[in-house]
Amino acid sequence: GRGPARGRTPDVVGHRGSSGLAPENTVPSFRLSRVHGADRIETDVQLSADGEPFLFHDDIATRTTDVEQVFPDRAGDPVTSFTWAELSRLDAGAYFAREFTGTRIPSLRDVALAAGPRTQVNVELKSPANSSGVEQVLADALRHDPAWRGLVARRHVVVSSFDSGSLRTFASLAPEVPVLQIGAIPDDATLAEWATWAAGVVTNHLRLAPEDVQRVRRAGLSLSVYTVNDPAQMRAMMALGVDAIITDFPDVLMRLRRDTGP
Ligand code: G3P
Ligand code: MG
Repeated sequence: GRGPARGRTPDVVGHRGSSGLAPENTVPSFRLSRVHGADRIETDVQLSADGEPFLFHDDIATRTTDVEQVFPDRAGDPVTSFTWAELSRLDAGAYFAREFTGTRIPSLRDVALAAGPRTQVNVELKSPANSSGVEQVLADALRHDPAWRGLVARRHVVVSSFDSGSLRTFASLAPEVPVLQIGAIPDDATLAEWATWAAGVVTNHLRLAPEDVQRVRRAGLSLSVYTVNDPAQMRAMMALGVDAIITDFPDVLMRLRRDTGP
């Protein structure tokens, strides 16, 4: 279920970590979110060809890695067609800035380790169609990996996806972990149905109508918005009373929340 409505103090969520200041979905990015005091780190999980869960957003690796240098013949192939050993050879930091050269693609466990005892983690199931079985792999990791078990016990882990089927599969495998449906805010009947298995919804802030906030809340669901990087938009979302704001700049949002707090 959702937590109490907190008016103008939404949770601060680092989108792919603090991806405005460090390479997205990497340990340096996750660490920055923790340093900035973000409430939660958002990241995207996929499955390698040999079944290792790794943290990566895009379907292909060209934008954020040196895949064109390392595997020139396979650069445009789905990132899930590479083995974990192959993915581990890629540089996932240099695309962002030279100082991050040598940064590797993280495994799923790395975000739990980077989060530490206070920061929560939102794992998004990304491209589940290309990551067959990712729901079971994630459920097993959250249950059995010591890096995750404490976080789950303290309810510091939430799982989200655009894909309802994948999300419901995960929810049936790990009912102790709250799930969030990502997408447009649907009609009231659909919201009520979502509320039977989801804790909340995550939606694009640019498509959020003010009346949606009350409709989501009336359905008993929490409301998170992405990806809010402009301070004026951050203020607008705080005024609407959303429960969480996902941003590439948790440092900016933390400062704003402190300045406008009750
Ligand atoms: O979880 C919110 C947001 O991350 C969803 O979009 O494409 O950034 O994963 P995307
Ligand atoms: Mg995401």
